[in-house]
Amino acid sequence: MPGLVDLHVHAPQWPQLGKALDLPLEEWLQVHTFPLEARCADLHYAQAVYESLVDGLLANGTTTALYFATIHLPATQKLAEICLRRGQRALVGRVAMDDRDQCPTYYRDPSAAWALDGTRELIAHVRSMPGNAAGLIRPVVTPRFIPSCTDELLAGLGRIARETGCHVQTHCSESDWEHRFVIERCGITDAAALDGFGLLSRRTILAHGNFIGDADAARIARHGAGIAHCPLSNVYFSDAVFPLRHMLRQGLHVGLGTDIAGGASPSVLENARQAVIASRMLESGVDPALVRERRRLPDSRIDAATAFWLATAGGGEALDLPVGVFAPGYQFDAVVIDAGAAGGNLRLAGDETPEETLQKILHHAARVNIRETWVAGRRVHPPAP
Ligand code: GUN
Ligand code: FE
Repeated sequence: MPGLVDLHVHAPQWPQLGKALDLPLEEWLQVHTFPLEARCADLHYAQAVYESLVDGLLANGTTTALYFATIHLPATQKLAEICLRRGQRALVGRVAMDDRDQCPTYYRDPSAAWALDGTRELIAHVRSMPGNAAGLIRPVVTPRFIPSCTDELLAGLGRIARETGCHVQTHCSESDWEHRFVIERCGITDAAALDGFGLLSRRTILAHGNFIGDADAARIARHGAGIAHCPLSNVYFSDAVFPLRHMLRQGLHVGLGTDIAGGASPSVLENARQAVIASRMLESGVDPALVRERRRLPDSRIDAATAFWLATAGGGEALDLPVGVFAPGYQFDAVVIDAGAAGGNLRLAGDETPEETLQKILHHAARVNIRETWVAGRRVHPPAP
């Protein structure tokens, strides 16, 4: 089947996967996440983390990943080099964050100018890496999110995105706190503020977007920007379920993100399952004390085929890259599923329709079932000897 596309990964949070899910977003960042990311100042530490991460994601069938790294240029360049060597299609961003109130002194860009210089250097480095002429690895303009960045930095990053044609990634309207913080600081919504800074384009991916309204959605769709829907992470940090079906109807590009380590699974397939579950719970509602009519949000469910589409073609479309579909003009990025792998739960009786086979893969395929992963026509997992 087509390879899986992960639209939202925090590479330095890999050691935190599956723990530290106990605090609201704004505390989790300060208590758990910024201290962890700061460790990537040590290039040898970062290299070990990133080698393990890329290996783990390829084994889970992720053929394209959109990565946040850290503020550290050498470690971010190293992540790009590891992806290139291991053959994973990757978009890599050096995180920009300079706000003195929101970022700790030990983990912050000393100035907007510093962050802008680092962003330009990363772009130049990635684009000139030997062996990257085909653009397997691409640089990404990466303001962490509006609360972490000064206006000067956000406007500067918007200019760099326009000048270089790079992808842009950030977080948008993720939680109650984040959504309200931006409205209080900027006087407008997250999506409108990002637009004002020149950060919305056909190559922008906004993580989460749980609290975007219809006007925001129309604005995002007008630019052709996309949403990284992170259904597992949203359970812990977002305060709400993303109205996926509604947003697809509004014409938004949507793909899936693991949000490692805000979500506890490295698997895009696991997130596809969770996208179905979350949409069903949104449709039925969750509070049994409410009468059915007040509990429900009708027409919210998605089916397994749509979830599979989001995990592959939807991600490719959001990135404006020819991946996620087996079709002329597309890259050969693929996963070989072993439906009978020992130690797995996936079992095909042989009488399934293609649609039912897909449903079974979506619900049961795990790492043991991913026999091979291919990117750009090259087998990348297991690695060739
Ligand atoms: N918002 C700003 N930084 C982060 C992060 O690292 N993870 C998540 N989920 N949201 C964020
Ligand atoms: Fe995130």
